[in-house]
Order: sequence, then C-alpha cells, then structure tokens
Amino acid sequence: MDGEHYFTAQPAGELSLREISVELAGSPRLLTTASGIFSPDRIDAGTQVLLANVPAPPPGGNLLDLGCGWGPIALTLALESPRSTVWAVDVNERALDLVRRNAHILGLDNVNACRPEDVPEGLGFRTIWSNPPIRVGKNELHAMLEHWLPRLDPQSDAWLVVQKNLGSDSLQRWIEGALDELSVSRASTNKGYRVLRVHRRARGAASGAGTAAGSDASSEGQASASSPS
Ligand SMILES: C[S@@+](CC[C@H](N)C(=O)[O-])C[C@H]1O[C@@H](n2cnc3c(N)ncnc32)[C@H](O)[C@@H]1O
Repeated sequence: MDGEHYFTAQPAGELSLREISVELAGSPRLLTTASGIFSPDRIDAGTQVLLANVPAPPPGGNLLDLGCGWGPIALTLALESPRSTVWAVDVNERALDLVRRNAHILGLDNVNACRPEDVPEGLGFRTIWSNPPIRVGKNELHAMLEHWLPRLDPQSDAWLVVQKNLGSDSLQRWIEGALDELSVSRASTNKGYRVLRVHRRARGAASGAGTAAGSDASSEGQASASSPS
C-alpha cells in the first residue's frame, strides 16, 4: 500500500503516471496508475483475495465499487458484466481520473467514476464489492458503510474484504448489530484476509431469519489469489 494519505481528495505530490501490467477478468491488461493513490504498483493482496472469492456479478443493473482507487474492482465488474452500470466511487480525485482513463483503455463505456456525493440519491445496487478504507478510522468507516450498505437492493449481496489483523471480525459484529435488514457471514478467509458477505433481506423479512445463503464458516485456503503486495 502506498503512502498514508491515499484517501485525500487532492494528493499533494506531482502527478506522475506509470503503466502497470495486471490480470483482470482473466486476461492481462496494461493500465495506468500514479502515486498518491492506494496500491499503485499492483493489485493489492486483499483486492486479489476479494476478486478470487466473489461469485460472478449480476448481469445488469447498478453495481458499486465503494472506494475504487485506480479501479481494479470496478473494472473487473464492468468487464464481467458489460450490460451493467458500474459506479466507481472514491474521495480521491486522482484515483477517479485513473479509473476513467483505465475504462477508456479497456474500451468500457459502462463505468461512472465519481465522488460519493455525485451518485444520484435513491439509486439502489444489485451488488457492492469493496476493499474498504479501514485506515480512515472506525467512525468514518462506519458512517460510510451505514450510508452505502442499506442501498443494496433487497435480496442482494455486498462483498467486503478486510484484513483479519485490521479488525475484520469486529467489523463483522458491528455490521450485524448496527444495520437492520442486513446479515453478514464470512464467505472465505485467505492470506490473512476475510471476505465478508453482507446480505440484504427481502423487504419486511424478520431480522435474524437467517436469510444469507452462504455458510457462516470460513473456508480457509479456498482462494487462489496470487502473491501479496
Ligand atoms: C483500501 S483502498 C482500495 C482501493 C481499490 N478498490 C483497490 O482495490 O485497489 C480504499 C479506497 O477508499 C477510498 N476512500 C476513503 N474514504 C472514502 C469515502 N468516504 N468514500 C469513498 N471512498 C473512500 C480511498 O481513497 C481508497 O482509494
């Protein structure tokens, strides 16, 4: 991970673009990143674990990458679900510019890279994939999740990757306790990361009804993510 201030709106350092070679949606891609953003030299190890452990995205509708950085998650969603509209949201304007640039490189016209406040109010999401910014601190992280997770469409899932030693288990308990209509389970654990599946119950379904289709058990070693950053 690069620098401590990857989540500032306008990174201070001069913009110095670089080309990186990564694999996204099963193919090698030459993309552009820059300093002043999260993990500019490679796909972060946690993001790799997430991408290796999520099911295929829904075939259409609005999909959200919360905290998109230079775009590995949003671009994967857009490549794998070409009829969807992918919302790539970040507070870091440089990251958003890079997502636009990378979407253009890949010939994708279904990616909207924008600041959180620019997503239309009332828009619901058929899935949310995120490597959330744990380092912003608990209060801000919780406020962010309280804002976005309830915007999952009913009967839909969000997939979050969180490092175990950065508090994945306490975050799981917090989501379960703080957010009505949502249930959370551990979908997988790999390389020190947990992938949490957050399920939004059907409208009117009683809480605690156990509607998450996934198992609560972690499946150590299930992922095939490549080397950590
Ligand atoms: C752990 S990084 C993940 C970046 C990218 N998804 C990846 O996998 O490489 C988290 C991202 O969340 C962004 N972020 C921080 N606060 C945010 C907020 N309130 N709303 C949206 N994104 C935020 C950061 O700027 C950062 O790019």
